[in-house]
Amino acid sequence: MNKKIILSGIQPSGILTLGNYLGALKNWVKIQTEYDCKFFIADLHAITVHQDPSVLRENTKKTIMQYIACGIDPEINTIFAQSHVHEHAELGWILNCHTYMGELSRMTQFKDKSHKQVNVGVGLFDYPVLMAADILLYNSDYVPVGEDQRQHLEITRDIAQRFNSTYGKEVFKIPEAFIPETGARIMSLQDPTKKMSKSDSNPMGYISLLDDRDTIIKKFKKAVTDSENVVRYSDEQPGIKNLINIYSAITGKSYTDIEKEFQGVGYGKFKVAVGEVVADELDIIQQKYNKLNSPEYNSYITEILNKGAEEAHKIAETKLNEVYDAVGFLNKL
Ligand code: TYM
Repeated sequence: MNKKIILSGIQPSGILTLGNYLGALKNWVKIQTEYDCKFFIADLHAITVHQDPSVLRENTKKTIMQYIACGIDPEINTIFAQSHVHEHAELGWILNCHTYMGELSRMTQFKDKSHKQVNVGVGLFDYPVLMAADILLYNSDYVPVGEDQRQHLEITRDIAQRFNSTYGKEVFKIPEAFIPETGARIMSLQDPTKKMSKSDSNPMGYISLLDDRDTIIKKFKKAVTDSENVVRYSDEQPGIKNLINIYSAITGKSYTDIEKEFQGVGYGKFKVAVGEVVADELDIIQQKYNKLNSPEYNSYITEILNKGAEEAHKIAETKLNEVYDAVGFLNKL
């Protein structure tokens, strides 16, 4: 039986956060045996804001190690770097010619990120089109991402439908977002109205997957909450709601069970309890990561990437040829 196709990626723009883990990676691990999965490192996307070249190279390797340490099995999944498969950039160009300025201007992530820049790069504006290319190259059925990527999935579907109807052919499969029920939107620990992000200038706002136990507990203890002192899942208590979400995504417990578990318990104890379950889960990941992050595993990582790029390229090449044919490019003889 043909398995449905899953594709997703993460930008190597720093050490991954608890948001990346709960919104994406933990979910990928759960579904990896059921689907035909392709997980890549979005290094082309990372340079939409300036990256120091040597840091980018390091972060790319570290991101792959974090994928594997979190439980992504390289034996059963295709793992590759986006820049190793040139068809991503090429399809990105074709799709640029089928995307409107107006629709890209409406992307909330562009609006947020461009406010933080003095000179806004064209790549930042065009970012969702490259993301559409990533997804459409592989006939993806589902794209497991956090809530913040929903709008990018919608524009991908619009571009694919427009392309298919322009050329009167079903060149692209129309993908669907696959967003987890809990953990899809983890907020900053310092400002629960903003999403947790690896590019936050205040490290107290996020939990890095590589933070040690003491740092994790300290960050949770200092998490911004309210003065109600009641552990309740409510929009009026965004800080506590965020902590309940995290606890639920880690333990699998429902919100009501969590409310019962911490009834009559002050925020202090609750925060430490959240910190402890997070630290326990990350401890296992860090042990695997530390093992992989040693010179003897260098060639192992390179092999995974080479094999992944080869597998991905075969699929991407076939799709790009179909696209070139549909738009009317001459065959290369
Ligand atoms: P990136 O690198 O910003 O985030 C990677 C994944 O982590 C999820 N995520 C979160 N989930 C919950 N709470 C948070 N605070 C949080 N922060 C991040 C994101 O939703 C995402 O799933 N554009 C993508 C990378 C990309 C991609 C793709 C993804 C490029 N091409 C094609 C899927 C398919 C991005 O910047 O993710």
